Amino acid sequence: MSGNYLTAGQLGLLILLLVGVTPVSAQTRTHVVHFSKSATLYALNCAACHGHSGRSSAEFPTLVNRIGYYARSAEGRAYIAQVPGVAMSAISDADLAAMLNWLLKLYSAKQLPADFKDYTGAEVAVLRQVSITPRIRRKELIESMLAAGLIPSATVLEWSP
Ligand code: HEC
Repeated sequence: MSGNYLTAGQLGLLILLLVGVTPVSAQTRTHVVHFSKSATLYALNCAACHGHSGRSSAEFPTLVNRIGYYARSAEGRAYIAQVPGVAMSAISDADLAAMLNWLLKLYSAKQLPADFKDYTGAEVAVLRQVSITPRIRRKELIESMLAAGLIPSATVLEWSP
């Protein structure tokens, strides 16, 4: 470093550090998004497969305008907490419950039942211990929810990689 000037690399690092620690200033307000705990947990544990906006690539089921349908039946509600990526995540029961509530309302509010009740940590603790085979469970859910008139068609929940 010569004199008081920073190299481009040092300047970049400094900016990253400042953006990380300073309260949102007028200059950064439009660029720095405040992530809630649920958003951070989603980004760290789910987004790699399900995408940062809940729209997954072809190998994974998309979450947007979809997962709320499951919450229309007790078994479907359980299923959401039992898919391996959710049940086996390293997220605590309480944080997972909060994150699922956040996720359902953010990405699939239109599909949620009118009387949707938030998951609780205690509920998730019990549900996540049950091991399921998603492909088989989803097929059963589609059949039962279709028969009960809870989904408009099988295609809204069908998925294959
Ligand atoms: C390693 C990739 C991966 C990660 C990480 C992951 N998932 Fe998944 N997820 C999948 C796959 C694959 C399926 C479909 C499972 C199947 O049908 O066999 C799935 C299914 C689901 C479903 C059910 C969708 C449906 O229609 O059947 C939900 C809800 C879900 N994941 C949410 C999450 C959440 C929330 C997280 C983070 C805590 C997460 N997943 C982490 C790959 C992943």
